[in-house]
Amino acid sequence: MVSAPKNRYPNIFDANQAGLEHACNLLRSGKLVAFPTETVYGLGANATNAKACASIYEAKGRPSFNPLIVHFPDITEAEKRVSFNAKAQKLAHAFWPGPLTLVLPRTENCDIAELCSAGLPSLAVRVPGHPIAHALLQQSGLPLAAPSANASGKISPTKSEHVAYSLGGKVSCILDGKDKACTVGLESTVIDLTGEVPVLLRPGNITREEIEDVIGSIQLGKSLMERKAESSSGDETTEDTLQPSDPLKSPGLLKSHYAPTLPLRLNAVDVAADEALLAFGNKPLTGSGYCLNLSEKGDLLEAAANLFAALHALDQKPNVRGIAVMPIPDTGLGLAINDRLKRAAAPR
Ligand code: TXA
Ligand code: MG
Repeated sequence: MVSAPKNRYPNIFDANQAGLEHACNLLRSGKLVAFPTETVYGLGANATNAKACASIYEAKGRPSFNPLIVHFPDITEAEKRVSFNAKAQKLAHAFWPGPLTLVLPRTENCDIAELCSAGLPSLAVRVPGHPIAHALLQQSGLPLAAPSANASGKISPTKSEHVAYSLGGKVSCILDGKDKACTVGLESTVIDLTGEVPVLLRPGNITREEIEDVIGSIQLGKSLMERKAESSSGDETTEDTLQPSDPLKSPGLLKSHYAPTLPLRLNAVDVAADEALLAFGNKPLTGSGYCLNLSEKGDLLEAAANLFAALHALDQKPNVRGIAVMPIPDTGLGLAINDRLKRAAAPR
């Protein structure tokens, strides 16, 4: 029996065995479950289910697709999805479970939704230290994509009521960590290990110095360096004076962000024979050799879930000179879809 929630937030549940089973069942059916970690509450979805991941963006009201961190119960599960180099292995052994996120190349047969990577060849992975997060990951047997469980632009939640207040009924279940949740209170440190030199993308509880003690020197991410320059008006600025919980300057602007090789033509009302078509809705344009439909039903959630995989697939078609994209409504998740398409279509 799931214990009946006694408070005024009916979706907050005790994280006892019944609560955990309830949460696991919801996750398996593609629903969202918020759970405590040692940093902040995460808004979790089955990371192998693209539609469930799309509903994270919908619930948060994010106007763009930031890549998401995927959580695992241990390093072995993470190693099935990303390739660990020697530095990554050292960091994982030193700091996991704990508030450190590693950005690493996806493995070839990685089963994590492309939406979690926002189309990038990399994936951010973390093994959280909180026992409730660990129990949920272990018992569900699912990798969980989880950004902080707050509406976009609002502060990160460190109590179950914060989540309920910010997201309301958009989250099916909030596991209550009571007083022992979120002792760190800041999002995890994020380090990119895909290049020659590791890059600190987001400062956090695990400091640059602690990381350098384990793997030698690292660089500050571009957005961190810019902020450092902006705020260094005389005084000594250190990483500590940067806002650790600041989101990255639009990650969509990162150079490494995925854009198709083929040019994109947006709001297409016709399609040429040598163009690939990215369709939307039940009246796809005719005339193209290659067509992928983001959602025949005109469902924006389904379209968001299919977006990156469809762009990758069309981009690889031979003898095609460009991708024509049918209009997508600019409401709800359509905002994030159009944001991504506009960036992909921008001159490079
Ligand atoms: O403490 C935390 O990390 C919390 C808890 C729930 O684990 N999660 C969290 O997730 O803060 P989120 O989505 O709010 O932040 C993810 C950060 C963003 O700055 C994002 O741009 C970066 O990680 N990120 C994720 N995947 C990335 C990738 N493939 N490449 C570069 N940056 C990535
Ligand atoms: Mg956040």
